[in-house]
Amino acid sequence: MATHHLFLLPTIFFHLLLLFSLTLPFPSQASNAKWQILQKSIGIVAMHMQLLNNDRIIIFDRTDFGSSNLTLPNGNCRHDNSEIVVKTDCTAHSIEYDVASNTFRALFVQTDVWCSSGGAVADGTLIQTGGYNDGDRKIRSFAPCETGQDCEWQETDHALAVRRWYSTNHYLPDGRQIIIGGRRQFNYEFHPKRKTEENNKPYVLPFLLQTDDKGAENNLYPFVVLNVDGNLFIFANNRAILFDYQNDAVVRTYPEIPGGDPRCYPSTGSAVLLPLKNLEAATVEAEVLVCGGARRGAFQLVHKGVFSKAMDSCARIKITDPNATWVVETMPMGRVMGDMVMLPNGDVLIINGAQSGTAGWGNAENPALQPIIYRTNSSGGSRFVLQPASDIPRMYHSTAVLVRDGRVIVGGSNPHEKYVFSNVSYPTELSLEAFSPYYLDSEFEAVRPIIEEPCSYVKLMYGEKLKMSIKVNGRLVPELLSVTMLAPPFNTHSFSMSQRLLVLSMGEVKVRGNSSCEFEVTAPGSAVLAPPTFYMLFAVHGDIPSEGIWIKMQ
Ligand SMILES: *[C@@H]1O[C@H](CO)[C@@H](O)[C@H](O)[C@H]1NC(C)=O
Ligand SMILES: *[C@@H]1O[C@H](CO)[C@@H](O)[C@H](O)[C@H]1NC(C)=O
Ligand SMILES: *[C@@H]1O[C@H](CO)[C@@H](O)[C@H](O)[C@H]1NC(C)=O
Ligand SMILES: *[C@@H]1O[C@H](CO)[C@@H](O)[C@H](O)[C@H]1NC(C)=O
Ligand SMILES: *[C@@H]1O[C@H](CO)[C@@H](O)[C@H](O)[C@H]1NC(C)=O
Repeated sequence: MATHHLFLLPTIFFHLLLLFSLTLPFPSQASNAKWQILQKSIGIVAMHMQLLNNDRIIIFDRTDFGSSNLTLPNGNCRHDNSEIVVKTDCTAHSIEYDVASNTFRALFVQTDVWCSSGGAVADGTLIQTGGYNDGDRKIRSFAPCETGQDCEWQETDHALAVRRWYSTNHYLPDGRQIIIGGRRQFNYEFHPKRKTEENNKPYVLPFLLQTDDKGAENNLYPFVVLNVDGNLFIFANNRAILFDYQNDAVVRTYPEIPGGDPRCYPSTGSAVLLPLKNLEAATVEAEVLVCGGARRGAFQLVHKGVFSKAMDSCARIKITDPNATWVVETMPMGRVMGDMVMLPNGDVLIINGAQSGTAGWGNAENPALQPIIYRTNSSGGSRFVLQPASDIPRMYHSTAVLVRDGRVIVGGSNPHEKYVFSNVSYPTELSLEAFSPYYLDSEFEAVRPIIEEPCSYVKLMYGEKLKMSIKVNGRLVPELLSVTMLAPPFNTHSFSMSQRLLVLSMGEVKVRGNSSCEFEVTAPGSAVLAPPTFYMLFAVHGDIPSEGIWIKMQ
């Protein structure tokens, strides 16, 4: 016995030491984050972005604001007599960016996709809905394809019941998308439609009319989250409802966000569903975090030349709690038009935006150059950690998406009606940049997990067990391992639609030597927890994520 203990003690001590070092006070890690310019110009403004399961990002801006800096191939041009700026436009307004090779190619959108919405569906196809002018009732699809195949946008006319501009989509457990609201649209619809919906009439949603601030709106691009009970949490302006879309019924009304100021366009804040965990528990909990925005009246003040300070509050609510209340935290700085990007380890990156003003053309000043990481699991004190600043303002019409290697691809910013490259404080930004969070620093090389098995893409059924094998180059601390899966969202106007991270249940960890192990994880039990589509699966060691692999839930 005594010998046994003596033998174990140093090991335990070592584990504790590592446990401690892996969960080191976060601030020292902030300085390890890096910014890198990927492309000086992709020729268009990255106003909307969606990562596809072939590791390419579909990016687009709009067709109605002049010629972009990227020529369409094969002498293609878009002829449109209803256009004001250019009737014959031989430039691209969409690209496909390949993450691994850092290259891109022009895509050809036929009609105006400005301020639209979308998301990836079961087979990985991006379904994009609406836009402006000739594009406002279109549905477009882009199916991922192999290298060398020049897949393109496909368009369907009059596919939407009504025009959709500034709406929010969410991908649903039944494989459809719901499309909610938009400018002067106090209603919602689905795509594809059911037989009973073939009259192509939208469903009225009075909540959107109730939250419309007459002219100032403050309820566009509402924050929509699929709750674990199958209902939708819909946040617009300063409050939220739980909505049963299958029965067209409001199930509950949440309390107003403390302070009562608006968080949606043009008082644009952002929101995220926090990681779903303990997925096999009888009741899974869901929490939503809403951050930043602009005070009521800020939009009107901009037109009097006053740029109000953006809000510095975040409010967190357990939406599954029958007595849910908002808990307010204060960010190190105010932020309007920030993006909230879920990181593989369950923390939230708050990036882009401005420190004063609102969304809209020329409506903001004082760019928020420093991202913040919100430490989801930290308790007490501040959960916010300031990150190194970028040199490039990313304000109105900017975007950010996570890719499989753990970087966040950041692009866009154009607070002007047209492309404007000179003589303005915030010129149209065509560059693409990568933000590498601290966890990618070489300092963590020894503890970075590597997924050895599965070695490539897998399909998973609901509740199915998946065998995984993980190694690290240094020493593995099995107690610090977790596995997460993340649905890549459609990002535009500071909201990442259908963004969803789940922490999977893990079986017993079998250690092999000091640096590798194997175990089983259980796939989420239902399509309500994880709607059927592609996810990135990550192993996380302490706070350090592996490179992800693609899985498909079905
Ligand atoms: C885009 O093209 C315009 C006009 O040709 C030029 O002035 C501008 O510098 C270009 N911008 C970038 C970022 O390449
Ligand atoms: C609901 O929450 C409030 C505020 O935290 C508390 O005062 C009250 O007792 C709670 N009610 C129930 C039924 O839990
Ligand atoms: C937070 O803690 C839970 C367990 O309490 C764990 O499953 C999850 O991975 C942790 N997430 C982060 C971001 O550390
Ligand atoms: C630059 O902007 C100022 C103020 O808007 C304007 O007066 C001036 O004519 C502009 N210069 C050029 C070269 O466009
Ligand atoms: C495991 O780590 C211990 C302590 O660092 C070392 O003595 C031992 O050789 C290692 N074993 C293997 C199989 O690497």
